[in-house]
Amino acid sequence: MCCNAPSFFIILYVTAVYFFGIYLNFISFQDYFECYACKELNFRQQDYDYIVVGSGSAGSIVARRLAENKNLKVLLVEAGSSGGGILQIPAVGVMLQKSSFDWGYRTVPQKQACLGLDDQVSIWPMGKILGGTAMLNNMIYVRGHPDDFARWFRDTCNYDYSIDILPYFEKLENNGTNKHKGSVPISDLPYKSNVSDYFLQAGICLGFGISDGVNAEPGFSSPKITIQKGQRWTPYHQLAKNRKRNLAIVTNAFVEKVLLRDNFEAYGVKYTHMEEPIFAKAKKGVILSAGVIGTPKILMLSGIGPKQHLEKMKIKPKLDLPVGDNLQDHVTTGLDLLTFDYSPNIGIRQMLSPWSMLNYFLRSRGPWTTVGCESIGFFNTAKEIVPELQFMIFPLGVTIDDGYYLSSLTGIGERLWKKYFAKIDKPSFTILPIVLHPKSRGTVRLKNNNPRTPPLINPNYLSDSYDIDILIQGIEMIKEFINTPPMHRLGVKLNPIKFPGCEKFEFDTRPYWECYVRHFTLTAYHPIGTCKMGEVVETDFKVKGTRKLYVVDGSILPDLPSGNPNGAIMMMAERAAEIIKHHCWKTQRKCCAAEVFQKECQC
Ligand SMILES: Cc1cc2nc3c(=O)[nH]c(=O)nc-3n(C[C@H](O)[C@H](O)[C@H](O)COP(=O)(O)OP(=O)(O)OC[C@H]3O[C@@H](n4cnc5c(N)ncnc54)[C@H](O)[C@@H]3O)c2cc1C
Ligand SMILES: *[C@@H]1O[C@H](CO)[C@@H](O)[C@H](O)[C@H]1NC(C)=O
Ligand SMILES: *[C@@H]1O[C@H](CO)[C@@H](O)[C@H](O)[C@H]1NC(C)=O
Repeated sequence: MCCNAPSFFIILYVTAVYFFGIYLNFISFQDYFECYACKELNFRQQDYDYIVVGSGSAGSIVARRLAENKNLKVLLVEAGSSGGGILQIPAVGVMLQKSSFDWGYRTVPQKQACLGLDDQVSIWPMGKILGGTAMLNNMIYVRGHPDDFARWFRDTCNYDYSIDILPYFEKLENNGTNKHKGSVPISDLPYKSNVSDYFLQAGICLGFGISDGVNAEPGFSSPKITIQKGQRWTPYHQLAKNRKRNLAIVTNAFVEKVLLRDNFEAYGVKYTHMEEPIFAKAKKGVILSAGVIGTPKILMLSGIGPKQHLEKMKIKPKLDLPVGDNLQDHVTTGLDLLTFDYSPNIGIRQMLSPWSMLNYFLRSRGPWTTVGCESIGFFNTAKEIVPELQFMIFPLGVTIDDGYYLSSLTGIGERLWKKYFAKIDKPSFTILPIVLHPKSRGTVRLKNNNPRTPPLINPNYLSDSYDIDILIQGIEMIKEFINTPPMHRLGVKLNPIKFPGCEKFEFDTRPYWECYVRHFTLTAYHPIGTCKMGEVVETDFKVKGTRKLYVVDGSILPDLPSGNPNGAIMMMAERAAEIIKHHCWKTQRKCCAAEVFQKECQC
């Protein structure tokens, strides 16, 4: 789609993106200074019952559920600032990347993957804002396959999906009938482009049915999303809508470590607020919900982590636990691997049209409500019950803005742009083939003992050949998928340009694709697992060997669910909130002696 002179719309777009970036900085600083002015002193002097660190998907649910008990004083501590209503426009989410609302993490250079990306690095956006990463995600809601959870709880006696998992999904999902209780609304796409249905039809041509999209059953579907009345909705929004007096929220508050007594009992956290150190105390518990990078970092800075590593960092080791191990991410590839002859009715032009703005503000509809991805699919490549491969279909590619903004978000450097993307002369788009259960494992480690230093993130992408096999099977499946009448009707073809670095291989052979996936390794933005349940935390979310210290966020997932993980993370947060609140599972049955909190359980 490249052209010689930038079009009017591209100029308008670049200007809009530029000023929006300035605006984002402005609102984040405004929040900062407002906080400076108010400096609600009581934040510092009060003692709380519970302190929750991080207002992301998990933290917002736990804080909200704990504060439902009016007798509990809860403090929610968030390092980022509040974003304001304009950030609830779905299409704006992507613009938060690389802004002051993004932690802006990067992995360490990958040895066997990301070879074609700038510095061989994968860029990992994460929300530093009230609402956390769900403020910049694609809002796709998937529960995952029921067997995913059976795997997580295989050592738990009497585990039963319908008792241990399903009720928490139901509690989480605001589906209209449980309106005032659910933490997130689950809705259908408010807007689809005019090619969207062709994708579902192509799936039918391949013999797949239309599935519900939520339980990761084989088949294609339009995704369910966490949107309400055209607005991005996260558990934080639910919390803010009905805020309880016994819940205090402090923003721009960067937690450095957990305060621990000699018997490993957590009694508070140390955070900095406006450059000032503050020690907040909690009588009943500290819950870390700082995310897959933030939480292991805080634990390690508190002396909980791999002993040798902590010693090397000159941190006094208190508890030797595999914190930061087991990092897993849904790995993918294939941006702009496909081209259309007839482009869809969504793009820069539609985004910038005044009609779209009116449509949004008057009807909460139209292109501004797009989540980017219009269809998803789940498949088994072998004879497994749990799907191994997911498709996420985006009718647009990174070439829509001629390389001005989007490409930089994924680590596509100038050279790669010129040698590959700039040469694509048709509207390009993307089907991401996502490895649902990758076997590569990585780590999060400290770089030094300064809390402000970003940690070293190494996902070790493609270090297990299984991951490469599934990616290549995914590409083979994409080829079958586009060889169907509905895709022929749109003139969909494989982009024939050889990927830079893979010129020596014959196009469309296995060695070529292996080279391609190693060069163009992408994150699906789903890292989890760095405080694995079973190794770092118990099934009651308590950090092993400690008292009153819990972890509830994506880092506790032992393995990736089959699908976008926010649903599973939020479900686990509902479960954790109940366990922490009642010291037991409400649904607890008579259980084996090994069960962790059997003694305490009274409900
Ligand atoms: C671009 C993108 C698209 C995605 N799309 C989807 C999707 O469509 N569907 C889906 O299911 N998943 C998606 N995900 C993944 C999903 O959003 C995350 O897995 C999920 O939001 C993680 O929730 P969490 O509660 O574990 O952590 P987070 O939401 O990251 O929350 C952590 C919070 O803790 C705060 N924090 C961190 N450190 C500190 C500290 N030291 N002191 C105080 N506060 C701290 C952070 O600022 C943040 O607010 C996407 C992710 C990205 C990046
Ligand atoms: C909505 O959720 C409730 C549980 O909270 C459940 O009983 C009901 O069946 C759900 N309704 C739909 C339409 O999914
Ligand atoms: C979708 O809309 C665009 C722009 O209006 C048009 O050019 C294209 O032909 C349409 N495609 C289909 C498949 O209807």
